[in-house]
Amino acid sequence: MNDIHDQLDAVIRQAMPPLDRKWWHTATIYQIYPRSFCDLNGDGIGDIAGIASKLDYLKSLGIDVIWLSPIYKSPMDDNGYDISDYRDIAPEFGTLADFDHLVAEARKRGIGIMLDLVVNHTSDEHPWFLESRKGPGSEKGGNPFRDFYIWRKPAPDGGPPNGLRSSFGGPAWTLDPDSGEYYLHLFSRRQPDLNWENEKVREEIYDMMNWWLGRGIAGFRMDVIDYIGKQADQEIVHDGPHLHDYLREMNARTFGNRNVLTVGETWSATPGSALLYSGRDRHELSMVFQFEHVTQAWDETYGKWRPKPFDLVKLKSVLSKWQYALSDDGWNSLFWGNHDLPRAVSRYGDATGHRKESAKMLATVLHLMKGTPFVYQGEEIGMTNVPFTTIEQYRDIETLNMHRLHVEAGLSPEEFIRGANESGRDNARTPMQWSAAPYGGFSTGVPWIEVNPNYATINAEMEMTDETSIWNHYRRLIALRKAHPVIVYGEYQSWLDQHPDAFVYTRTLDRDRLVVVANFTAREVSLDLPGELQFTGECLTSNYEPVDALGENVALKPYEAFAVLAREG
Ligand code: GLC
Ligand code: CA
Repeated sequence: MNDIHDQLDAVIRQAMPPLDRKWWHTATIYQIYPRSFCDLNGDGIGDIAGIASKLDYLKSLGIDVIWLSPIYKSPMDDNGYDISDYRDIAPEFGTLADFDHLVAEARKRGIGIMLDLVVNHTSDEHPWFLESRKGPGSEKGGNPFRDFYIWRKPAPDGGPPNGLRSSFGGPAWTLDPDSGEYYLHLFSRRQPDLNWENEKVREEIYDMMNWWLGRGIAGFRMDVIDYIGKQADQEIVHDGPHLHDYLREMNARTFGNRNVLTVGETWSATPGSALLYSGRDRHELSMVFQFEHVTQAWDETYGKWRPKPFDLVKLKSVLSKWQYALSDDGWNSLFWGNHDLPRAVSRYGDATGHRKESAKMLATVLHLMKGTPFVYQGEEIGMTNVPFTTIEQYRDIETLNMHRLHVEAGLSPEEFIRGANESGRDNARTPMQWSAAPYGGFSTGVPWIEVNPNYATINAEMEMTDETSIWNHYRRLIALRKAHPVIVYGEYQSWLDQHPDAFVYTRTLDRDRLVVVANFTAREVSLDLPGELQFTGECLTSNYEPVDALGENVALKPYEAFAVLAREG
């Protein structure tokens, strides 16, 4: 860097003091989809007792927080993202006592429990909706619950009030014959949207959040939180005018003075809005999940059901853009997968020819970036997408709805299944593969969704005993983040942006310089390195032989990835 850059840098640093250090900057989060994690009582459905029985497994992986997908009472139209009682546990998952026990046992191991907060909508079986449905009311003031949800008169032709669509297909409005009005549901018709403009709704939600915070949870993952400011009449769904007011109010009324982690699910986030959600002086959330690296690969018309061919240059440009945008304020979440996305190794790696190498490569690239990494259950053992052959094997409401719509529209059932096996949500929801025992050791009974048949060769038991396994690679990466501040706070810079096969970036903090190099292909790749990256140091991680010296040229093996740390001066 020349003088003028040094001077500019100093000015910027003065204007923007370094971030306050937070415990979740060095943490790694593990997401559990309770239905599919571990079934202790043999009814085929994962449960809280099952999760508690695996805490030592998670402890040895080194994670700090568990994000639990919803465990509340629910008719399970959308596997718990349709809540009928915010203050109780779904009986198939256990009881409140089981939950308290889980929190206590996790805490003993230094692990926090983060809950999924689903407050954009409830189940249609929630008592608020049952009351709301009774109509506008005639007595003075009307039915106080009517306005908990979003009801509108039909359009002049009797159809839905406007053109809003549900994410799961079809109109976002359903007619209630009793009152002759439509209610809004941006997801399934069994997930009516709450009316956040109603102060009483917000009060109820803050009370409920405080009730859970009082039970000692470590934070919230907030489901489609970018929707709560919706303006139904204007057909504004995300980033409504009061979205950030509500989040600041929520922060002030609930978790603001507690040292917890909050992460908002925001498919609409841009670098600009991410700074509103997570900027240091905003008093909103710790961070958001943005999905640009996911959606950049979606088809303009068919979305995820027909992904574009993999394009590393594009992927790198999106990931780097976010690294730069949140480098001095805000904070990134880092993830390849979750319960709504395909398996990472199937989507971004090579699940057949180079499963082990590519799964490790993906982990290396993600975990050494700036932000908080999230591991989705089974990712740490390289679980893959499913090879289902008929629609009967699918369980997900989105896949089943889309199947109906797409096949009605003329797509062949075979083509649909191909798309679903590539992109459907059930890929992430098949049971966790614990061992080579029947049903992958997930359950002694028949699981609610079929186990991926590859459980005999891909399972946690084998992974844990093999020093060179994907699991041990994750374990080491998680530990590295705790040992090296450069991984947590180092400045990010990408290199060779136009290289179609390799991802190269550096992280710099004080005298530490970390270079990360990854081959995203099944081919050998010869890489010419710029002079700045030619140095000798300590190899922190690699998925082949350790590399500690970088010259003018490196020959990368298929999916090879490594990181070298040098200390200058
Ligand atoms: C979020 C969840 C998804 C759910 C939807 C509706 O996107 O991640 O699983 O179906 O919200 O709650
Ligand atoms: Ca069970």
